[in-house]
Amino acid sequence: MNTQTTKLTSKSILITGCSSGIGYCVAKNLKKAGYRVFATARLEADVSRLKTEGFEAFQLDLTNSDSINKTVDEILKLTDNHLDALFNNGAYGLPGAVEDLSRDALRVQFETNVFGWIELTNRIIPVMRQQNYGRIIMNSSVLGFAAMAYRGAYNASKFAIEGFTDTLRLELKDTPIQLSLIEPGPISSKFRQNAKKAFDQFIDAENSPHKEQYQAMERRLNKPGPAAPFTLPPEAVLKRVIHALESEKPKARYYVTVPTYLFGYLKRFLSSSMMDKILSKAGGDGKR
Ligand SMILES: NC(=O)c1ccc[n+]([C@@H]2O[C@H](COP(=O)([O-])OP(=O)(O)OC[C@H]3O[C@@H](n4cnc5c(N)ncnc54)[C@H](OP(=O)(O)O)[C@@H]3O)[C@@H](O)[C@H]2O)c1
Repeated sequence: MNTQTTKLTSKSILITGCSSGIGYCVAKNLKKAGYRVFATARLEADVSRLKTEGFEAFQLDLTNSDSINKTVDEILKLTDNHLDALFNNGAYGLPGAVEDLSRDALRVQFETNVFGWIELTNRIIPVMRQQNYGRIIMNSSVLGFAAMAYRGAYNASKFAIEGFTDTLRLELKDTPIQLSLIEPGPISSKFRQNAKKAFDQFIDAENSPHKEQYQAMERRLNKPGPAAPFTLPPEAVLKRVIHALESEKPKARYYVTVPTYLFGYLKRFLSSSMMDKILSKAGGDGKR
């Protein structure tokens, strides 16, 4: 690829978590649309695969500062210190009751879903300030504003991302850097598969008072195909990413899927006790 030409003619974007799901879909389609996509993945095997598919691909593990810094340095060298957009996307969900979460389990969840995102974002903000332009898109979730039982670690990580992003938007309001949150409900991807791996690694289901609920939850995590009503393909998220990148006035928040619209609406009008009733019926008992 001719670096000089692409730098002058196409917008550049760094995306995390491109090995599967939403990150892969967004990377593939933005590349097709002419963006210069820096596709990053946690594992070298996925980086190699992405390269064979024609991506400019790099290893980036969000739990590791060296990995973040090394990859950002390499990319900025290629672009002469320029990057138009950042799509913070790589993350996973650790299911499990709050009382079963060890400090270590929470630490890894936050290292990936929160600290890595903010560290990466803070590396890119000075570049965007310097070039006088930038779009930062955070892939949050409906679970970034509506809590569900047995999703405490993931809920808290997405609530944290929402808090950081709302704060950053205020702090950067006098700069040309624009921030958007995307709040998807159920999207088909490897999310449940990866959540099951995290569950097996960190939760002692056998010795938990929630053992029975976990059996139902594991059936849901192992179920092939969509496990929740209103599941959409990752292209539904892509559509909002494109708006956040290309609109003159990107939105602060993009809802994706019926459950996000529904809970967003209900949360504005209902009391916490009413919300609790609805959220526990909507799969918050771990059974869906
Ligand atoms: N699917 C949904 O229903 C849904 C709903 C709302 C929000 N989201 C959000 O959408 C985003 C993408 O998830 P997805 O649905 O596409 O699931 P996915 O298919 O499991 O993709 C998650 C991606 O994150 C990467 N990742 C995990 N840990 C990482 C780390 N330490 N460093 C760098 N990358 C890491 C994974 O890499 P590996 O393959 O190496 O593990 C994978 O590429 C996440 O932020 C998720 O919270 C998803």
